[in-house]
Amino acid sequence: MNLSQHSFVAVTDFFHAQSGIRLGPDKLALVQGRLQRLANEAGHTDLDTYVGWALSSSAADEQVRLVDRLTTNETYFFREPEHFQYLGAHLETWKGPGAFRVWSGASSSGEEAYSIAMVLRDRLQQRPWQVVGTDLSTSVVDTANKGLYPLSRAEGIPEYYRKRYCLRGHGDYAQHMLMARELRDHVHFQTANLLEQLPEIGEFQVIFLRNVLIYFDVPSKREIVSRVMKKLAPGGLLFSGHSESLVNLSLPLKTLQPAVYTHA
Ligand SMILES: C[S@@+](CC[C@H](N)C(=O)[O-])C[C@H]1O[C@@H](n2cnc3c(N)ncnc32)[C@H](O)[C@@H]1O
Repeated sequence: MNLSQHSFVAVTDFFHAQSGIRLGPDKLALVQGRLQRLANEAGHTDLDTYVGWALSSSAADEQVRLVDRLTTNETYFFREPEHFQYLGAHLETWKGPGAFRVWSGASSSGEEAYSIAMVLRDRLQQRPWQVVGTDLSTSVVDTANKGLYPLSRAEGIPEYYRKRYCLRGHGDYAQHMLMARELRDHVHFQTANLLEQLPEIGEFQVIFLRNVLIYFDVPSKREIVSRVMKKLAPGGLLFSGHSESLVNLSLPLKTLQPAVYTHA
């Protein structure tokens, strides 16, 4: 089953309007593969018919699934480990007052937020802390809130943390691990679109905004980063992905080291 050019444009325009992400002609095979699975699940044998239906006003639920499926949610525990070392060192100098709050601004299925939580719990012990994760995609937010992952995802977690904060399942869950209650009690996830007005989630000492800006054009990046910086406390840290430099955005940011910023 092939996707016509007309349907490809209709779907990618719709996705762009929803997420701000532009999927170009080089992504035709990827889009087709993901639509194919959605069409099968919805009982459609023809891709163009499926697209016509999914984009119609009577298929609002399908549109949520479509956006979910077209976003790239790749993530893993302790991705770009330098940031977690930097965070650990920063915590040593943290004097308070109040809770130490961190925002994972495109949290995907939660691995980034729980990695942060392991470092916070370990360094801050009984002092108050909180991690908020947000993402555009409802399905990854649901996964993140469960805190349950296949054991194969544990690979990047340093053994020290794995032993303390990852609970190995039994029986039907033998191939899974659950994030420890002492992490889950301090971490929560909700949907939020970085291109729209952000929810009232408060102010943060550290914001992770990693591996998401890569999808946006320069004006959208600038808009997102300046909106996000309003949530960063004075002296707070912003981490971007190492492949996403913010230096050309002409924003009042000071670079502390590659992919680590603060207010200028
Ligand atoms: C590649 S993942 C990055 C996850 C994690 N930050 C990391 O570095 O491993 C990108 C995430 O950005 C989310 N995303 C894409 N566009 C978004 C938007 N406009 N608002 C909020 N999240 C968005 C996607 O749903 C996806 O989960």
